[in-house]
Amino acid sequence: MLIHSINIVQKMSCLYKLCGAVVLSLMLLLSNSQVKAQDSASAPAAAAPAGGGGGDVEKGKTLFTNNCAQCHSITAEKVVGPGLKGIESRTPGKDWLHKWIRNSSAVIASGDAYANQVFNANGKVQMSSFPSLSDADIDGILAYIAQGDKPAVASTGGDTSKNTEGTGGGSASVGGPSELFTFVLIALLVIMLLVLGVLLVIVTILSKAVSPVTTTDGTQIPSSFGQRMKTGLSDAFNNPTLRSVVIWLFLLVVTKATIDGAYSVGIQQGYAPKQPIAYSHKLHAGQYKIDCNYCHTGAQKGKSATIPAANICMNCHGVIKKESPEIQKIYTAIENNQPIEWIRVHNLPDLAYFNHAQHVNVGNVACQTCHGEIEKMEVVEARSSLTMGWCIDCHRRTEVNTKDNAYYDKLVALHRKESKEPLKVANIGGLECSKCHY
Ligand code: HEC
Ligand code: HEC
Ligand code: HEC
Ligand code: HEC
Ligand code: HEC
Ligand code: HEC
Repeated sequence: MLIHSINIVQKMSCLYKLCGAVVLSLMLLLSNSQVKAQDSASAPAAAAPAGGGGGDVEKGKTLFTNNCAQCHSITAEKVVGPGLKGIESRTPGKDWLHKWIRNSSAVIASGDAYANQVFNANGKVQMSSFPSLSDADIDGILAYIAQGDKPAVASTGGDTSKNTEGTGGGSASVGGPSELFTFVLIALLVIMLLVLGVLLVIVTILSKAVSPVTTTDGTQIPSSFGQRMKTGLSDAFNNPTLRSVVIWLFLLVVTKATIDGAYSVGIQQGYAPKQPIAYSHKLHAGQYKIDCNYCHTGAQKGKSATIPAANICMNCHGVIKKESPEIQKIYTAIENNQPIEWIRVHNLPDLAYFNHAQHVNVGNVACQTCHGEIEKMEVVEARSSLTMGWCIDCHRRTEVNTKDNAYYDKLVALHRKESKEPLKVANIGGLECSKCHY
């Protein structure tokens, strides 16, 4: 009987250790799942195809997410442009909306009073033109806006929320299947922890029950099972097994923290160093509306957007505010023939290749999509994580800007034969390792 129970105890503690190992692996998996999920190719395929009566809204949602969400929310909240809630009742009508969305500058130039009012009220920020959208496309978008983001439609993640990933486009949200994956992992983890707890109690009580008892006169006798059961629970707390569990849990927490820490190494989201000259984008790009390309001349042409040299500042500050001590620093730099030592805010590791012209010029992606509302920043802050997951996520979700680009004509035709989905960056090789890694 005694030997038999010792056997059970041994088996139980084996089982218990096994459970511990499973829990540890689950925790490892869980902390990895975010990264894995972003790498798995399954996310966009899940998008429901348009069809039936709700098709318009569905399609409108996709179009909105891909073209408008970086600047507009469907609530009343202003992003780059005004929130679009109730848009149809506040604008001159559907016809006007069609014209505006296809080419807002033309409507403004035509002298349309409402258009000019909106344009001025929004700091004369130019809205992108969408000449390729059909009437049906635009009606779909409007239907989607009117309907609001009903929970019935699977959410693509924080596109309207003012998240730190910039204004929507680059949000590092995880798609449906990976959310499920994480959920399953968490559920498993909870179950395993419960099992672990139960096993622990059993092992503790059993091992107490079978261990010999030292009586008051010093002799050891095998314990009575029932007697030991009573004290077992209270003893459990100064029991080595329990202590080992506490250590286990502690190790788990530390491991998890370390892994999380490792993944955030090199991520500079939120980084906003103080610059050597108190140059303000809010003043120059916001209040005075100096075009980004005036200073960042490389963005349309090449890999680097480039930081302007001091002589570009001198185009204006040769006359403006010469006496200011901050402006004097520009003069000093030029006199000493030394560049202004701006502190770099965004910096990819050398292993990754990123090209501005490809995105800004060819892809027609707005600076704000990746950098946030720079024109409102007194000091530049990194709004996007610049992680691989961030790049990939956008490539999965963003349609290629194929209009007026003969280069894509054949590709588009080919793609149309194979799929009804719009041509995404992922379809033109935007997920291939070699495109981003040397
Ligand atoms: C690059 C940013 C940007 C994108 C992308 C963009 N918009 Fe706009 N939108 C604006 C801005 C800014 C305004 C305010 C008017 C202005 O300054 O030209 C505006 C104004 C509007 C208005 C009028 C708002 C009002 O209050 O009357 C509508 C409607 C609109 N946008 C719809 C859309 C739709 C639909 C899309 C997508 C197909 C879209 N916009 C994409 C920036 C953008
Ligand atoms: C008058 C010149 C000027 C204009 C206009 C301007 N910038 Fe800049 N920008 C600078 C200078 C100088 C720096 C470096 C100092 C700093 O980081 O503030 C800079 C830095 C930046 C950075 C951070 C670079 C880094 O170190 O990673 C970004 C991003 C940026 N600008 C985007 C924009 C965008 C987007 C616009 C248009 C809305 C714009 N800039 C307009 C002069 C300009
Ligand atoms: C297109 C014209 C233009 C360019 C180019 C320009 N600025 Fe300015 N800057 C202005 C104007 C306008 C003001 C506001 C002057 C005022 O408040 O009276 C200003 C103000 C400033 C101020 C605040 C001065 C103070 O003491 O109030 C600083 C600092 C400054 N600029 C730095 C720079 C730097 C650095 C560059 C080059 C990267 C630059 N500016 C390029 C037009 C320009
Ligand atoms: C698709 C996302 C994306 C868009 C759109 C984008 N940028 Fe960038 N930007 C980046 C990334 C990523 C880096 C870091 C590049 C690196 O370290 O090699 C960066 C870096 C910069 C820098 C630092 C200097 C450099 O080139 O490395 C400036 C300045 C800048 N961007 C300005 C702009 C301006 C101005 C626009 C719009 C005309 C713009 N960016 C549009 C992603 C973007
Ligand atoms: C806001 C969305 C967005 C983000 C974020 C983004 N990209 Fe892109 N990327 C695009 C679009 C759109 C294109 C397609 C441009 C075109 O038409 O060629 C593209 C194209 C590319 C291409 C060329 C792909 C090909 O097959 O021709 C490379 C390489 C690339 N991106 C690298 C990056 C890297 C690296 C990052 C992250 C640091 C990044 N991108 C972040 C939108 C994005
Ligand atoms: C759209 C661009 C893009 C594509 C496609 C891409 N990567 Fe990356 N990758 C990046 C960027 C950007 C970084 C740097 C991210 C960082 O520092 O967090 C990176 C980092 C890495 C790293 C370094 C690990 C780390 O977290 O710093 C490895 C390894 C890697 N990528 C492998 C791959 C492989 C393998 C593929 C193909 C399956 C691939 N990448 C496809 C953009 C891309």
